[in-house]
Amino acid sequence: MDAVTVRTLLKKKREGKKISMVSTYDYISAKLCQQVGIDCVLVGDSLGMVFQGGDTTLPVTLEEMIYHTKAVRKGARECFVIVDMPFMSYQVSLEEAIRNCGRVIKETGANAVKLEGGEEVAELVYRLVNIGIPVVGHVGFTPQSVHVLGGYRVVGRVEEEYERVKKDFKVLEEAGAFMVVLESMPTGLAKEITQSSKAITIGIGAGPYCDGQVLVFYDLVGLVEDIKPKFVKRYIDGAELFRDALRRFKSEVEEGSFPSEEESYG
Ligand code: KIV
Repeated sequence: MDAVTVRTLLKKKREGKKISMVSTYDYISAKLCQQVGIDCVLVGDSLGMVFQGGDTTLPVTLEEMIYHTKAVRKGARECFVIVDMPFMSYQVSLEEAIRNCGRVIKETGANAVKLEGGEEVAELVYRLVNIGIPVVGHVGFTPQSVHVLGGYRVVGRVEEEYERVKKDFKVLEEAGAFMVVLESMPTGLAKEITQSSKAITIGIGAGPYCDGQVLVFYDLVGLVEDIKPKFVKRYIDGAELFRDALRRFKSEVEEGSFPSEEESYG
């Protein structure tokens, strides 16, 4: 597989070919993504919930994102790797945000950064793209604003929100974001945005008309059991497969059949 680039991804959009993206946080799962030719790997700040067991993405730090992205980059050398900039790493000032985004790209080898929001991050997007850092936007439901939005929900059902999401997308596109994640919004809204956009749209809970789709690795392999949003599809029951392996290991240890000669040094 040749390394995936911004140009490869934009070409796919022009040719009407769908783009696959997986959000994950470790070397092993990133390597699996690479092996099957997933286009983009996002190191999502969802790691705060999925990997760390938190209730929101808000406590995730810049250091943690850098740590996880280094591991992912090693596993997925050819995939296009995107890093979620964590809450408060890009909101305080333009200067601090640029420094943090630059640091992430320098230290991790990632290809792009992802920022949540519309108008409020437009100037930052413009500056980053001009410095040479590709930017992925994120509109609709934006998890870092969970408290303002009043919980995990679909955004854009009422007229005012519908128009706001469309405007946020346009502003990001004009500022230079080459790709935008559309999260938890009505299918019709994501379709309307995608049909008139030059930037790539990646949907999660945004219906089938986006240019590509993203799911969290641990959701799609069925390892997350506590919550299952409507948009998640579990392709295997990973949790049960893992439990089965653990049960068998436990019972073999207890009965003394593991390790056998095969797993022992002579
Ligand atoms: O943090 C994340 O994993 C994400 C995706 C689900 C889009 O932002």
